[in-house]
Amino acid sequence: MAILEKHKILEKNATLLLVLSFVVVTIGGLVQIAPLFYLENTIEKVTGMRPYTPLELKGRDIYVREGCYVCHSQMIRPMRDEVERYGHYSLAAESMYDHPFQWGSKRTGPDLARVGGRYSDEWHIDHLTNPQAVVPESIMPAYGFMHDRQIDPSNMRDRLATDAIVGVPYSEEMVEAAITDFRAQADPDADASGLEERYPGVQQRNFDRRAGVSEMDALVAYLQVLGTMVDFSTFEPDANR
Ligand code: HEC
Repeated sequence: MAILEKHKILEKNATLLLVLSFVVVTIGGLVQIAPLFYLENTIEKVTGMRPYTPLELKGRDIYVREGCYVCHSQMIRPMRDEVERYGHYSLAAESMYDHPFQWGSKRTGPDLARVGGRYSDEWHIDHLTNPQAVVPESIMPAYGFMHDRQIDPSNMRDRLATDAIVGVPYSEEMVEAAITDFRAQADPDADASGLEERYPGVQQRNFDRRAGVSEMDALVAYLQVLGTMVDFSTFEPDANR
């Protein structure tokens, strides 16, 4: 065939092949990237998203430190089996305050994007302390040591200020109050009016039921907020908004 004869020219000329491959890849790239510039917003607007509280943010740092993302993803794909198991598929807006995002690429354990509110605090603590006591066939490692690690929140202001630099809308007031808010969230007796005002819907309680604020408190506070911020009763998917 004539066209295959012509293809031989390409196959025999490395430079020409390279140049034309580049052209093909460029077209492919443009097809994917160019439409994004014509969308008004690549992150759909949702109600309810707020930055993490200082305690949740600390819990998130522990999650990253312990490499939970190595076994757990935080992104529900828009496929039926996923949506039926985990809930509404993940929206870009839900990870807009995540630096770095925790989508993950491996699911040795289940997706955690909507684990918040699915189990009680006690369940999480029993499970983190000894996963096999709750799920006998589990291969998840135990994290009971977090009970004994009290958190010194003295760097929380800087921690929030750092996220503010990369675009998380922490106000000066939030940064100023970071340490107070950190302690107040884990103390049911603390006055939490300021905390609630800064972080609407915040869950305030002693997560591990022990004195002090341990890494367990912070991690459970983080797990319990995952996927609970967006109000899906008011959300309508529309890429052109
Ligand atoms: C070696 C892989 C591995 C690592 C690391 C790991 N997990 Fe898991 N995780 C699992 C597996 C497997 C399951 C499912 C069995 C079970 O529930 O224990 C699971 C289950 C869970 C569940 C219950 C989810 C559900 O919907 O039932 C939570 C919550 C959880 N892990 C949190 C964490 C956190 C937090 C960390 C980090 C501190 C972590 N995991 C680290 C493997 C892992």
